[in-house]
Order: sequence, then C-alpha cells, then structure tokens
Amino acid sequence: MTIAKGTALITGASTGIGAVYADRLAKRGHDLVLVARDETRLEQLAARLRKDAGVTVEVLRADLGTTADRAKVEERLKRDDIAVFVNNAGMAVTGPTVDADIEKLDAMIELNVMAAARLARVAAETFARKRAGTLINLASIAGITNDRPAVGVYYNATKAFLLSLSEGIETELAPLGVRVQAVLPGVTRTEIWERGGVDINQLPAEITMEVDDMVDAALAGLDAGESISIVSLPDNADWDAFKAARTAMYPNLSRRTPAPRYRVPARAA
Ligand SMILES: NC(=O)c1ccc[n+]([C@@H]2O[C@H](COP(=O)([O-])OP(=O)(O)OC[C@H]3O[C@@H](n4cnc5c(N)ncnc54)[C@H](OP(=O)(O)O)[C@@H]3O)[C@@H](O)[C@H]2O)c1
Repeated sequence: MTIAKGTALITGASTGIGAVYADRLAKRGHDLVLVARDETRLEQLAARLRKDAGVTVEVLRADLGTTADRAKVEERLKRDDIAVFVNNAGMAVTGPTVDADIEKLDAMIELNVMAAARLARVAAETFARKRAGTLINLASIAGITNDRPAVGVYYNATKAFLLSLSEGIETELAPLGVRVQAVLPGVTRTEIWERGGVDINQLPAEITMEVDDMVDAALAGLDAGESISIVSLPDNADWDAFKAARTAMYPNLSRRTPAPRYRVPARAA
C-alpha cells in the first residue's frame, strides 16, 4: 500500500503534528502546500524543506475559521496535482462544559468540524475524479472516549464527528482506489495543550507521546493499509472487537416495533 504520488496539502502545518507531516512527506518526495494562519512560521518551514528535501513548497496563509479563507483552500484542493490531503488543523477547548467560553466552543466547532468537513468533501471529490488520492484525517482517541472526556466534552464530540466522517468517506471511496485514514493520537507533545491552557508536563509521562514518533507511526500505519490508526494501541484486535460489537447490533438498530423492555402495547396492523 503506497501513498498517492503528487502534491500534499497540509492544514495546520505551522507547528506540531502538521509540521512533522510536512517534513516527512517532503522527504518522501511530495511537493507541498502548507496552510495555517502564521505566515512567518510557514515560510520558515517552507524554506527549510525546499533546501533539505528539494521539493516545491507553497505557503497558503488561511484562517480556516473564516469562510473566505476556507474557500481559498478549497480552490487549491480542487486542482489535479493534489494527491494527499492531511486534514489536520484543530484546536482544543479544555475543561468542564459549564465553565467553557461559548465563543471558544463555536470557534472550535468552526475549525474542527466545519472546516474539516468542507475540506474533506472537496478533497474527496478531487480524489474520486482522479480515482486516486490519500485523505488523512487527524481525529483523536477523544473521538472514542466520549464517556470519559479528559480534554473537554465538545472537543471529544468534534473528534467523534471527524472519525465518523472518515469511516463513512472511506466506505464510499475505497472502491474507487482512494485511501482514507483516520489517525487517532493520544496525548502528543505539541502546542495544542498550552494553547488550551494545559501544562503538558503535568500529564503523566507514560501517556505522552513525542510528536515525531506519533507521525512516523501514523505514516507506517498508512503504508500498512490501515484505515484507522490508533497510534498507541498495541493490539489492533481490540479495535476490531469494538467494531464487531457495533456491527453485531446493526440488525436490531432499526425495527418496526420498540424493544420489549419499553412495554409499548402492540399496534394493530
Ligand atoms: N497534540 C495532541 O495531543 C493531539 C491528540 C489527538 C489529536 N490531535 C489533533 O491533531 C491535530 C493537530 O494538533 P496539534 O497537536 O499539532 O496542534 P497544534 O500544535 O496546536 O497545531 C495546530 C495547528 O493548527 C493551526 N491552526 C489553528 N487554528 C487555525 C485556524 N483557525 N486556521 C488555520 N490553521 C489553524 C495552527 O497554526 P496557526 O496558529 O499558525 O494557524 C497549527 O499549525 C488537531 O486536529 C488535534 O485535534 C492532537
């Protein structure tokens, strides 16, 4: 299983996970389009990668929380040279829901849900047209730990959205030869924690992964053909069992009659 050849567009490439993807994909020979708000940081990274990897690197400054800037990125994703889309930009609002600033929650939903959903849709269309392409969605283990939201309830919900979207698009596009991977990191040492008001050094070392290791493992998972990569999980059979339990419910999730435990009287035919 190889990653599609061509240009890789990476959102949230100015730092953290996105910047490491940029480094690794450049070293694999991909030309890059780097997207984020901090143009200075993007230009610094672009200059280094042009020099070290000899690839072409475009910088596309965009605030993905705004529809106007999102549209610029959508236009770029429509071009045929795009072979890889790393749907990575995200933010975290931490802490209890009742204390959360509702404007910050809105901003997070705009970025983690609205922008991620729109850009995935445009990339999916490009890749379906070309019958080739690789879509990598940076979800999170937060997307499957909704009953224990260690970061924040709304953050978890945004990541559950992206995981669900990724699984669904994969089902539709895999028959066309398009690769779709959801990456589910655990705690990874990046600025997202500090930006969310959490000192990562206060978190237990045994649950904290270095960002280079996280991205290298996720790319190894992609190369191995995984459509969901839970980067820390030692045994993928655990995820398969989780999915099998879900699938086993399918025949009973939509029926003519309510379940017997609700004791709803039988309706005359
Ligand atoms: N680190 C973790 O523990 C962890 C765990 C699981 C999942 N993830 C997910 O991985 C992804 C990357 O996270 P990270 O840890 O690398 O975060 P990070 O270090 O905070 O980097 C976030 C990136 O997104 C960009 N960004 C933020 N707001 C933006 C906006 N409005 N418009 C455009 N770009 C924006 C930032 O650049 P600018 O500020 O320059 O715009 C930066 O490049 C996120 O989706 C996150 O939810 C992270």
